[in-house]
Amino acid sequence: MKESNGGERRPIGHIAFIMDGNGRWAKQRGLPREHGHRFGVKAFERILEHCRDLGIGTVTVYAFSTENWKRPQKEVDAIMKLMDRYLAECEKNMDRYRFRFVFLGDKSVFDTERRQRMERLERTTADHERILNIAFNYGGRDEIVHACNRLIAAGVECVDEATFASALYTASSADPDLIIRTGGDLRISNFLLWQAAYAELYFTDKLWPDFGPDDLDEAIEDFYTRKRRYGGV
Ligand code: FPP
Repeated sequence: MKESNGGERRPIGHIAFIMDGNGRWAKQRGLPREHGHRFGVKAFERILEHCRDLGIGTVTVYAFSTENWKRPQKEVDAIMKLMDRYLAECEKNMDRYRFRFVFLGDKSVFDTERRQRMERLERTTADHERILNIAFNYGGRDEIVHACNRLIAAGVECVDEATFASALYTASSADPDLIIRTGGDLRISNFLLWQAAYAELYFTDKLWPDFGPDDLDEAIEDFYTRKRRYGGV
């Protein structure tokens, strides 16, 4: 068993999730990949509820990347449909978790109805204290380029780190303390490239639909064994 870092167990401010393994989870059960995503949404809801109970201030999930458009149309359509259903459900039941919704990524690619729904949810939950960032049509490189263009358009000639961070999609969030990736791969896959600078990374072989509150507790226990030095000693 790993030792605790001996420090105080301050609540973790921000946890981000790369929800990988839905497709394999479905395949193992002889189901189409879309079913994996459906169970992925259920896992996401369980984890979000657990994060709320643990007092986590900011939760970020990687729901659809700028590269995911390359997937078969049937799968893309299924993920869009799941998101539409989730958005409609949240609008009906806004106070369920009292999270402030923030969508990370370029919304302009979506049809008017989906975009307006996303924007409405962002507006109507803007006074909620806890933040839920949903990365949807998100890529870390795309975000950095987008931020540069925003700053150029605003006539900024020279930036410091804080100004640059304020032009990112995540402007309203502190950097993640912990990034959890399920599904066994050991990479970041274009997620929160700027924001991950000092995040602790946690990888598990568990496939996302199987990742539950106990697994999150385990990841958090592991987090507390880490010594965060931020380049110091
Ligand atoms: C990665 O698993 C998962 C995705 C690309 C999509 C994740 C989307 C959801 C869980 C639904 C999002 C909706 C809401 C409401 C948050 P994969 O398909 O790459 O799995 P594999 O590596 O096993 O193929």
